[in-house]
Amino acid sequence: MRSRLLISLAVLMLVFCYFVKAPSGASVNSLGSQTRLASESPSSEWIAFLASRKTVPLGTMLLEEGGNQGIGQSLVGFFGRMGDSPWSTGLHESRYAYDFIESIHVWTLCLFFGLAVMFDLRLLGWAMRDVPVAELAGRLLPWTIAGFVIMVISGSLLFYAIPLRSFQSIFFRVKMIMLLLAGLNVLIFHSGVYQQVETWSLDAKPPRAARVAGALSLVLWIGIVLSGRMIAYNWFDCDRQPQPAIINFLTNCVPNGSGN
Ligand code: HEM
Repeated sequence: MRSRLLISLAVLMLVFCYFVKAPSGASVNSLGSQTRLASESPSSEWIAFLASRKTVPLGTMLLEEGGNQGIGQSLVGFFGRMGDSPWSTGLHESRYAYDFIESIHVWTLCLFFGLAVMFDLRLLGWAMRDVPVAELAGRLLPWTIAGFVIMVISGSLLFYAIPLRSFQSIFFRVKMIMLLLAGLNVLIFHSGVYQQVETWSLDAKPPRAARVAGALSLVLWIGIVLSGRMIAYNWFDCDRQPQPAIINFLTNCVPNGSGN
């Protein structure tokens, strides 16, 4: 299973590198040495990006970015620079790669989300009531975890292609908060009631803590999928001013004087 996963990830990376090549003469940003780096691999671009800051710890770098405007604005500066990098630009402007990666994000959703929902329905005692929970977990969890890993890798690449817009997207932020809560829920479930699964695995209606974990998981993953879908809509984008003050506050958006 692991070797098959590693082989498919390696093939995916090869296809990704074939589809994406930094556009020659890509818009260079303040890193200065970009043109030289344009045709080199993403990793060398990252090395150059970090090398330009190698003497400064990340925390200090972010504070420098935003001066006295706080971590939010420094992250805006940081992701703005990331978005100017040739590989981010290359991915965003590529003919096939972005769509290919987004397709993987959506295809893997079928695997990950589908299996997660089935397990949650068993925890709620609403489906597969005669299947032992421990057996179901043993069969579904490896595929669910594989799906999750691919979702995170493809999602990170989608973010990397449009980092500033995604960072300032209210839907993306809601999604990331719910992802953290879903992760916390999984942690509490596996370190809590699931430790005694052998005592309730055959129960058609699992104990309350397991049902609560299943219900929370179901609500959070549905919320993550919906907010993920909404990221594409630019209703609250920073460049579509005027926006309600609360939206500008929650998305670190500082509209300039001209209303944009
Ligand atoms: C494993 C949990 C995840 C789930 C279930 C999930 C789900 C989704 C869904 C359903 C979409 C909409 C796809 C579409 O219809 O176009 C989406 C889009 C997106 N996701 Fe995720 N995602 C996950 C993880 C991530 C992560 C970890 C990131 C980044 C760090 C991410 C970044 C994005 C971005 C940037 C988009 C917008 C793509 C676009 O509209 O162009 N996702 N996600």
